[in-house]
Amino acid sequence: MATIRLGDEAPNFNANSTEGSINFHEWLGDSWGILFSHPADYTPVCTTELGTVAKYKTEFEKRNVKVVALSVDGLESHKGWINDINETQNTTVNFPIIADEDRKVSELYDMIHPNADSKLTVRSVFVIGDDKKVKLIITYPASTGRNFDELLRVIDSLQLTAYHKVATPANWKNGEHVVVSPAISTADAKNIFTKGVEEVKPYLRMTPQPNLN
Ligand code: BEZ
Repeated sequence: MATIRLGDEAPNFNANSTEGSINFHEWLGDSWGILFSHPADYTPVCTTELGTVAKYKTEFEKRNVKVVALSVDGLESHKGWINDINETQNTTVNFPIIADEDRKVSELYDMIHPNADSKLTVRSVFVIGDDKKVKLIITYPASTGRNFDELLRVIDSLQLTAYHKVATPANWKNGEHVVVSPAISTADAKNIFTKGVEEVKPYLRMTPQPNLN
């Protein structure tokens, strides 16, 4: 297992999932992707997480993001549990869940942290860009359900950086002013960002979010 770092190509793999076998890179196609692990099927926090992700389907689609979950439980377990998620979370699971019984993908992505749990995956999240590069890695313990609003916020920030050469400040929310990349001079920024550039300091330039009308 090699360490995966930001900017690395997301390692490719083949795996069985609740929606058939997946070659990760082919499955991603031209989309952005989220690969996220949960510790175990039929557990309470995981049930709420997967139900939440199902409800966010249109938010992920708007951002051209495909989502795939993973745990080390088997396919039959996943399929039975999906019925419970649909029933209790009032939704329909609409993304694949990888059955990583041989831990091949978990090990490839370093999702098992032995000092937390020797057998089960922690709550890892990998956001992968449409260039197949790893853009974000977050790791939560088993006992803390993830904040999927934060994940959407980060994806919005990552896509602003990828497509509009801007960064986002602390606690930024969609619609608020953004930061001009330090790689762009203020003179160039004034030509690129036609809504205006405020030079607070030579290294701190703010501009209205460029992808809004
Ligand atoms: C849960 O999903 O509720 C959970 C799973 C493993 C450990 C603790 C909580």
